[in-house]
Amino acid sequence: MPNVVVIGAQWGDEGKGKLVDLFTEEADVVVRFQGGNNAGHTVVVDGQKTILHLIPSGILHPGKTCVIGNGVVVDPVVLAQEIAELKERGFLKDDNQLVLSLDAHVIMPWHQALDIAREQRAGAGKIGTTGRGIGPTYEDKVARRGLRVRDLIDEARLARKVKDRLPAAREELARLGAKLDEEDGALVQRYAELGRRLAPYAQDASLWLHKAMKAGKSLLFEGAQGTLLDVDHGTYPFVTSSNTVAGNAACGSGVGPTAIDHVIGITKAYSTRVGSGPYPSELKDATGEELRRIGAEFGATTGRPRRTGWIDALALRYAVRVNGLDGLAMMKLDVLTGFPEVKIAVGYRCGDRTYDEMPSDLETLERCEAIYESLPGWTEKLDGLRRWEDLPATARDYVKHVAKLVGVEVVAVSVGADRGETIVMKNPFHVKKRAAG
Ligand code: IMP
Repeated sequence: MPNVVVIGAQWGDEGKGKLVDLFTEEADVVVRFQGGNNAGHTVVVDGQKTILHLIPSGILHPGKTCVIGNGVVVDPVVLAQEIAELKERGFLKDDNQLVLSLDAHVIMPWHQALDIAREQRAGAGKIGTTGRGIGPTYEDKVARRGLRVRDLIDEARLARKVKDRLPAAREELARLGAKLDEEDGALVQRYAELGRRLAPYAQDASLWLHKAMKAGKSLLFEGAQGTLLDVDHGTYPFVTSSNTVAGNAACGSGVGPTAIDHVIGITKAYSTRVGSGPYPSELKDATGEELRRIGAEFGATTGRPRRTGWIDALALRYAVRVNGLDGLAMMKLDVLTGFPEVKIAVGYRCGDRTYDEMPSDLETLERCEAIYESLPGWTEKLDGLRRWEDLPATARDYVKHVAKLVGVEVVAVSVGADRGETIVMKNPFHVKKRAAG
C-alpha cells in the first residue's frame, strides 16, 4: 500500500487537517513528524468542529493508529488534555490507537516562558511566534540538552534533567524580566504525573512504523505549518524552528526516504500568513479584508487574524521544488466565489528588476511586489458540488491555470468546510508506487 506525505505548500493553515482527515480513510496509520502544538487543525465532521493541536486528526477514525514521531516537540500538558477530551467525546477507546515516540522532545514550562519573554523583548523585530515554546525546545534539542519523552516517563531521570537545565533557564528568564513561579520540586512532581499519564503511549515509534510497513500497512505523513515556514527553506528568520518540507517526514519519524511513494502539497485557492515576514502577494486593502472575512481567516491556535492575499505561483513552484511535489490539493476554492476577478502572482518586481522565481534573499523578497495575472471570477456557489465537471468553467480554468503555472497537477479541490465537500480528482492512495529510475 502506498505511503503518502501531505505538507503545506504555503505559510501554513492551508487546510491540511481536512485533506488528511479525508485521506485517512485510505491509510492505516497517520504520522506527525515535526512541529508541535503551534499547529492547529480544525476538522468538521457532520457539522461538529474539533480542533486538534498535537494528535493527528486520524484519531477521529476508529481503527486507525496515530503516531507522534521523534521530530515532534510535545507539550505534555496539551497532549494529556487532548487525550482526555478525545476520550470524553468517545474517541480513543483503545490506547493502542496512539503511539508516542520515546525520542520526541518535551516542551517544558521554561521553554514556553522563554518564547514569550524573548518575543516581548524583541519588539518590532519579533517573529510573531505562537508562544508555545516551540523554538526554545528545538534549540535545546540541537544543543543536546533537551528532555525527551523517555526522560519524562522516568521520574528519576526527569528530576536529574530538570536540575541540570532549570537554573540556567531561570537565569535567562530573569535577564529578560520574566520568571517561573513554580518551585523546582513541584514542577518535577507535576511533570512526573504527566509522564505517568503518557507512558502507556510511549514506545520506539520508528520500530513500530517499520513493523507496520512490513505488515503491509499504508502510512499517511501529516505535515504541520508550511513550506515557507521551514527553518532551512522558508523565509528565514521568519519561520518556525523545524523542517516542514516533505523530506523531514523520513527524519522526523524514523523511516527511510525510500518508504515515501507520493508527496502532495496543500494550497489555499488564495494565500494567508500568520506572524511577521515577507509576503509579496499580501492584500492590505478591502479585497484582503473580504478574503479574511469570507474565509474566516483567524488562527486555530492563537485566534490571530491572518494576513491574506492572492495565490502566489512563484511560492508554489518553489514548494514543488523543495518538496518534490507530485500534486497539489487546492482548498477553499469556494471562498473566491463572488470576486469579480481572481488574481495569481506570476512574477515579482523589486526596484527595476523582475523575478520569475522566488529570490532566496530575504531582504530582496521583503522589497518585492507581486506582478499579477487576472482571470475572470465566478458567482456560483460551489459548496454543493461533488464533481470536477460540475464546477463553473471559470473556476476550473482558474485551477487549471494555477496548475500550469506551477507545473504539477491539482489532484483535489475543496469547496466547503465539511469533510464531504472535497472533490478528489486523483487519489494518491489509488496510484501505484512511483516507478524507479
Ligand atoms: P513558532 O512555530 O511558534 O515558533 O512561530 C514561528 C512562526 O511560524 C510564526 O510566524 C508563526 O505565526 C508561524 N506558525 C507556527 N505554526 C503555525 C501554523 O500552524 N500555521 C501558521 N503559521 C504558523
